[in-house]
Amino acid sequence: MEIKVKDAEITRFRADALILPVYESEKRLRGELAAVDKKLGGAVSELLKNGEIKGKAGEMTVLFSLKKLPATRLVVLGLGKARTLDAEVLRRAGAGLSRRARRHGWQTLAIGGLDTLKAETVGQTVAEGASLGLYGFDKYLSKKDKGTDVKRLTLLEPDRQRRAGLRAGASRGLVLAAAQALARDLVNEPSNYMTASDLAAVADKVATDNGLEITVFDIDKIREMGMGCLLGVNRGSAQPPQFIRLDYRGRGGDGIDLALVGKGVTFDSGGISLKPGADMGDMKGDMAGAGAVIAAIGAIGQLKPKINVTALVAATENMPDGNAYKPGDVLTAMNGKTVEIVNTDAEGRLTLADALSYANQIKARRIIDVATLTGACVVALGSITSGAFGNHQPLLNRVLRAAKDTGERTWQMPLDDVYKELNKSDIADLKNAGSRWGGAISAAQFLGEFAGKTPWVHLDIAGPSDTNREDGYLSKGGTGVPVRTLVALALGLAG
Ligand code: BES
Ligand code: MN
Ligand code: ZN
Repeated sequence: MEIKVKDAEITRFRADALILPVYESEKRLRGELAAVDKKLGGAVSELLKNGEIKGKAGEMTVLFSLKKLPATRLVVLGLGKARTLDAEVLRRAGAGLSRRARRHGWQTLAIGGLDTLKAETVGQTVAEGASLGLYGFDKYLSKKDKGTDVKRLTLLEPDRQRRAGLRAGASRGLVLAAAQALARDLVNEPSNYMTASDLAAVADKVATDNGLEITVFDIDKIREMGMGCLLGVNRGSAQPPQFIRLDYRGRGGDGIDLALVGKGVTFDSGGISLKPGADMGDMKGDMAGAGAVIAAIGAIGQLKPKINVTALVAATENMPDGNAYKPGDVLTAMNGKTVEIVNTDAEGRLTLADALSYANQIKARRIIDVATLTGACVVALGSITSGAFGNHQPLLNRVLRAAKDTGERTWQMPLDDVYKELNKSDIADLKNAGSRWGGAISAAQFLGEFAGKTPWVHLDIAGPSDTNREDGYLSKGGTGVPVRTLVALALGLAG
């Protein structure tokens, strides 16, 4: 789908569908939209007046223009109350439109009258929503859905300055949508096609496409670096582990301003502490954190903020096997800390322990990790909100702000030294799981031992990384959370 921005008169514009946005309890069309209504002999205002069009968010009313306009049809698009209009409403509206357009085969859309928010925001969110609305994962279906995708969406805007804003926003929105689609693809991909080596190959392509540097460490190098926790988790798997590093240098010079660490467990069976069978297949998505950081740094490479960002992924499967690590074992992380294994299903924090140690070894100035870490976080916050933990409130505030601005629900959870109690072991420096209560916090506390004193934020995305229903711009499966937050954070830090 391409997005165009034009200074064209809305009543003269030719398109399969002309979109007229209306707000709730608005009794007539505003500004240039009124001219369209006039050409139709007041058909739209009549529907508004007698309440058949309510303007509620998500409402779409189709009227044929019957040659009274060059556009074939009009779609009166409800945006809800004018007071509550925000980026998220537009993102959802964009998706609703592109989905409806695909269903009916409308290939060209034009929309006017979107003048109540900042032009950049309008361009970005409409582009994001319209593009993500067309997302689907059909590569393994012999019969693909035959719908025709929208070819072109034109934003009509008479003001020159706003046109520039719309253009800038739309191109950023398409970059972000593509990154979220990639993150979704990686979650949706079955684990037999998304091993650690497959994930490294994807990272390699992202690097080539976006001008990033890539280094992939194999098992020998991983051994040499002393990543004993990653190796422990990998022991039960027939697939070798991979440690993936992507570098974006937008500031130039040395130093890493931001490390993005993603949990990359390509399948989590639980290992010897085997998970129950129901829904185990969902654990193909246990590398959602890795997918998000790889996709985000790709988008950052395209948007080119003046900041140095590094993405890190310790990738492996977690499988039961004669060779697998076992409860009671002790593993030694890259930073020298020893860990007693009490549950092999608490594997994410082990792989992250080594990735965080590595981030510190290369002296990253800030670290954000993203992980489908605990079911407990889903119990605490439900499945649509990420949990945020950290050791540095100003950095936490930045992450929360970026999440809020981009409409990715994120809520801060407690973390301070009292929680150290939860991971105390009798025979090692730490144990890899605490009691049932506060499971998301003990997991975060464990990670904090490896983040050390570096400003660090941990995002537990076990809930929102995937969804079982289509809603707005989300489709079943991977969501791409928190790609938007990560990119906004990097852009914000770059200033
Ligand atoms: N990958 C899971 C967490 C998870 C659960 C993600 C549900 C998405 C949906 C993680 O590795 C795990 O198994 N965590 C355990 C930890 C426990 C053994 C301490 C959990 O949450 O039960
Ligand atoms: Mn697990
Ligand atoms: Zn896991």
